[in-house]
This record gives sequence, C-alpha cells and structure tokens, in this order.
Amino acid sequence: MRCRHFGTCGGCSAQDRAYELQLQAKQSEFESLLGPLDVQPVAIAASTDQWYYRNKIELSFGAIVNSPQDQRSPALGFKQKGKWWKVFDLEECLIFDPGLGPVVRAVRQWVERENLAIYDNRRHQGFLRYLVMRKSTGGGLMVTIVTTSSGSLPKESFEAIFDHPRAALMWGIQDSSGDTAMTQRFEILRGEPFLYENLLGRRFRCGANSFFQTNPRAFELLLEDLAGQASAVIEPSASGPKPSILDLYCGVGAIGITLSERLGVPVLGIESSASSIEDAVFNAEKRGSFPASINLKGFSAGESPLNPVVERGPASTRGEPSGLVLGSGGKGDSPALNPSINFMLAKAEDVAGDLLSKPEYRDGLVILDPPRSGLHPKVLENLEKSPPKNLFYVCCNPKLALQTEFPRLCQIYKIVRAKAFDFFPQTPHYEALFVLRRRDSRPGSG
Ligand SMILES: C[S@@+](CC[C@H](N)C(=O)[O-])C[C@H]1O[C@@H](n2cnc3c(N)ncnc32)[C@H](O)[C@@H]1O
Repeated sequence: MRCRHFGTCGGCSAQDRAYELQLQAKQSEFESLLGPLDVQPVAIAASTDQWYYRNKIELSFGAIVNSPQDQRSPALGFKQKGKWWKVFDLEECLIFDPGLGPVVRAVRQWVERENLAIYDNRRHQGFLRYLVMRKSTGGGLMVTIVTTSSGSLPKESFEAIFDHPRAALMWGIQDSSGDTAMTQRFEILRGEPFLYENLLGRRFRCGANSFFQTNPRAFELLLEDLAGQASAVIEPSASGPKPSILDLYCGVGAIGITLSERLGVPVLGIESSASSIEDAVFNAEKRGSFPASINLKGFSAGESPLNPVVERGPASTRGEPSGLVLGSGGKGDSPALNPSINFMLAKAEDVAGDLLSKPEYRDGLVILDPPRSGLHPKVLENLEKSPPKNLFYVCCNPKLALQTEFPRLCQIYKIVRAKAFDFFPQTPHYEALFVLRRRDSRPGSG
C-alpha cells in the first residue's frame, strides 16, 4: 500500500487495487445499478490525476491518550475508520498534497506550545475543532482554523506557521454540537477569503464557504462532456421564447457560466448558499486564465513553490440582499461578459415549481446537481408536474439516486446516456452524468 495510514484511515479504501481495477469496479457497479432501467452506460472517464487530486482537506483536532501515564497529546488528522470520536495523527495524505506532513506537524507542535484545549466531540467541551485547508491551481492556499467560542486564538503564533503572504488565514467559530467544519462566523486573519480555480482555461473564484468540486481536473472532463451534450439538445427556436438553461444547485456557477459562454443561451442559476452566489456573480462578470499548479512541499520551511499572484478583482456584489435575482452584467467595474446569465439566491425546492412551468425551461434544458443527499422531494414532485424536455443530472451519489429517484424520473424520462466520471480515485466513489429526454418529445426536436 502506498499510504502509511491505509486501514486506519476511513478514506482511500480502494488503494490496494491497481487504478485500472478500481475503474473496472466502478464501471461494473454503475452497470448493475442501471441494469434494472435497461440502460448500458458508456465507458467511465478516468481521473486525470490519480494521486494528489483533491483541493480541499478537513482535519480534526483530537487527543491521543498515552497509557499508562494517561497523558494526552494533541492529534491532528482524520477520524479513525469506524470511530467518529477518535482522531489519528496524520503524517501524509496522498490525495491532497505532498507537502502536507510538515504543515500538520507544525500545527500540532503549536497546539502543544500554546497549551490549547482540544474539543471533545463526545462531551462537547473544548476549543480547537478543525483545520480546513484549500488550495487551488490558481496558486492560492486558504487555511481556516475552526474553534468554539470558548477560548482565544493565539493569532500571531498561528499566523507564523503559515508565514507566507500568499496564504489566506481565517478563524471560524463553530459552537454547534454537530460534526461540521462549516462556519458562518469568520474573522479574516490575513489575506482575502477566496481562492481562484482554473476550469477549462477559465478562472473561477471560490469563497471559504462556497462549494467547489474537489477534483477540478476530473470536473473539467465532465464539464466538457456536458457542454457537448448540451449543444446537441439546445437549438435556437424560430419563434417563441428562446430555449434557456436552468442550472439548479449551481454553486459558484461553473456549469452555467461555461454553457452560457459556449452556447450563447440565457442561463439562470439557483443556489441556496449566499457565498456561492456572490462568487457565481463575480465569476460571470470577470474572467482570466492561469494554467498553474501548486503543492505544499517546502511550504512550512518558508520555501514555497507557490505560483505568482494573479490579478484579483473586488467582490462587487458583497452585501447584496438575499432572495434577489442577481444579474452578472453592467455592475461594478467591469463590463458584462454575458448579459444573459443570472443567479438567484434561493432554495431549489422553493422556486422549482414556478421556474419549471416557464416555456423557456420546459423546452430548453434543466440541469440538476444536488448535494449527496439528493433532490428535495418538492423538486422531484415539480419535475413530475412540469417536466422539461431535456434534463441533465450531475450526480455525486449515483447509487442513491438510481435506487430512489430514477424509478420515478424514468416514468417520464428516457435515460439517453449515462456516464460515470472518476472524481475520487483510491475511493469507491464516483460522479455520474445522466442525459435524460422526456419520453413524449422527439429526439432532435430541440
Ligand atoms: C454538488 S454541489 C454542485 C455545485 C455546482 N453545480 C458545481 O458543480 O460546482 C451542490 C450545491 O447545491 C447547493 N445547495 C444545497 N442545498 C440546496 C438547496 N436546497 N437549494 C439550492 N441549492 C442548494 C450547495 O450549496 C452546493 O453549492
């Protein structure tokens, strides 16, 4: 096994198989899930990178009891396999970054030096909870230390660990008893709370609280494939409303913006996270490219291989009231790149009913990309009530969706194409793209 934590760590459980065999296992699982629907998937797309592909890691603080003296020393790492309460000391993570080990060690030593209290997730007491690190091919690093509000962070010594002007540092407060590193309360210790990621040569901003696909190089393969499929179903109509794209669960706008720029059709993105919507509006307004790479090797030693700083624009939409449709065009200090892309801060289940009844989406294309838990029941009901002619489902949990949602969707839709994408090498997980066509519509009828 390549990783020293194999067996202890709950992640990367498939790394004891050659990559080719991992792909075969995913493809054959996907085939058997699709079997009852009489669909044969096309070949799975391999990940561009098999190691060090993730752009985000969430580590937990814990305590290791050193028997027999019962002394405790701080741990920083992942939860042990099957033990949600127990953290093991991480030395490396072969799917995040080759330079992670020294950084984790430096943080652990800092905890010891400062004598900080570790959060106990069974008693719900203590201070230090998580360390979230995000990096981007845009050459940035964003580190968030998450604590409860029960203590005070020794900021100067924490900042000294990441002694590089390119590292954005944040302190997030999370008092809830749930096991989540997501926080709404932030103090920015240094830098801007954004990263910039390169997708198909285009730059996308992503804030500390925004969702971004964790394997951007594999996501590019899906985006390219999806754009090709969309161009085949979206055709300009001679009369009536222009066929449009509804991008439900749009995140920072990667899919909608790519399609609006490639196909020149109006797009409306819906998303419930305010931070993602702010990023989506910013992304539609501004563009740029930077084919660069980053790793953390040598970072803690002050010798960083990080790439040159890229131009960063202001967040022109910060402070917009929620619930509005936010246009990308004409605001701030840059001209609109595509005046026909808009975003709405809303829950998909609250707006799907109205939007799906509009002819431009009914005859255009609706894209679904929900979280792992799947579609809200109201979204599914509204799809049944007003089914758009073309439905693309980007799915990070195909097993659940095929067992619970597709039996209903397939009453109305035919799965024209199903393809798995390996976003998560060394693990059993994969992403899928389903191209669905309403059964009563003729293929090639726009
Ligand atoms: C799997 S991500 C997809 C994001 C985006 N399509 C992409 O590929 O980057 C799911 C997104 O749905 C958002 N979300 C979660 N619940 C939602 C809801 N009820 N309504 C709208 N968006 C929601 C999340 O904030 C997240 O950005």
